[in-house]
Amino acid sequence: MLAPKKGLLAADESIKSASLRLTAVGAPSTEEYRRRYRELFINTDGIQNYVSGIILHDETMYQMDNSGRPFLEVLKEKNILIGIKVDEGTQVDPDSENETVTEGLDDLEERLQKYVAKGAVFAKWRAVIKIGENLPSLGNIKKEAKNLASYAELCQKYGLVPVIEPEVLREGNHTITESEAVLIQTLKTVFEAIAKKNVDLSGLILKTSMVIAGSEQEKSAPEVVAKATVRALKISVPQNIGGIVFLSGGQESVEATENLNAINSIKELPRRATYSYARALQEDALKIWAGKEENVSEARKIFLHRLKMNSLASVAEYSPELE
Ligand code: G3H
Repeated sequence: MLAPKKGLLAADESIKSASLRLTAVGAPSTEEYRRRYRELFINTDGIQNYVSGIILHDETMYQMDNSGRPFLEVLKEKNILIGIKVDEGTQVDPDSENETVTEGLDDLEERLQKYVAKGAVFAKWRAVIKIGENLPSLGNIKKEAKNLASYAELCQKYGLVPVIEPEVLREGNHTITESEAVLIQTLKTVFEAIAKKNVDLSGLILKTSMVIAGSEQEKSAPEVVAKATVRALKISVPQNIGGIVFLSGGQESVEATENLNAINSIKELPRRATYSYARALQEDALKIWAGKEENVSEARKIFLHRLKMNSLASVAEYSPELE
């Protein structure tokens, strides 16, 4: 999963999010167009040079590409590892009405076994932490941490690599300093909860937010983001985890590449850090494609370009002139 110069593609947007993204570019938000959206990326020639694994949504597991081949077969042929999002989205936290809790533990064991039988080798669970007035609450972080830990333990029981994603949301007016403090508190709480379970840390991947200021604040320079992110991860993440990947969290595509490059330029994390982006890899191509067959080849060029840029950033060899 963490092969040099590769990362993960998060192609696991929920049906609601994928539909919203299609509508935003004027494409129909039907199952068929979600299938075409997945096809656009999965069948890009050369994707396997930059992507070691793809996180799929349950719907894609059963869909076929344009030639009628199951996507799962296409991925196996390209030597791309199959991942699956297994959380079932968020619900309002009954103890804190402005926060949410991620659900999906109830029937998780059966679903994990089903996905293993279909060829999945890793899974993802996303928890959402919101920064705001008196937020996040410690109670909410603890709940999310406990669920992430239970999920990780179950994944390993069935032979799947757990990707744990406690996403600290960018939305809001918080400073980069507040973002750093919340990420540290969140990750410390998550790893405390994991320590209480039977989880082999070396077989677990952390998918984390970078430390960035809120969306209503001015953007910080990549070096500032990188220093704060590396500082936060060094004090809150055990040294012996399997790896660290980043979500893009609504950053502009080039911004996400520059920040990843700056983080890897510091060379202080015990494990190399790479990308597991959804929007920062797909968004530019999606806009060009706009649901139209005649735009597929142009959109794929853009997608491949973003992959190349992020691949370089994952080994600190990116520079803006390459854009
Ligand atoms: O759950 C979110 C995805 O795994 C990452 O998406 O890169 O657009 O934040 P993003």
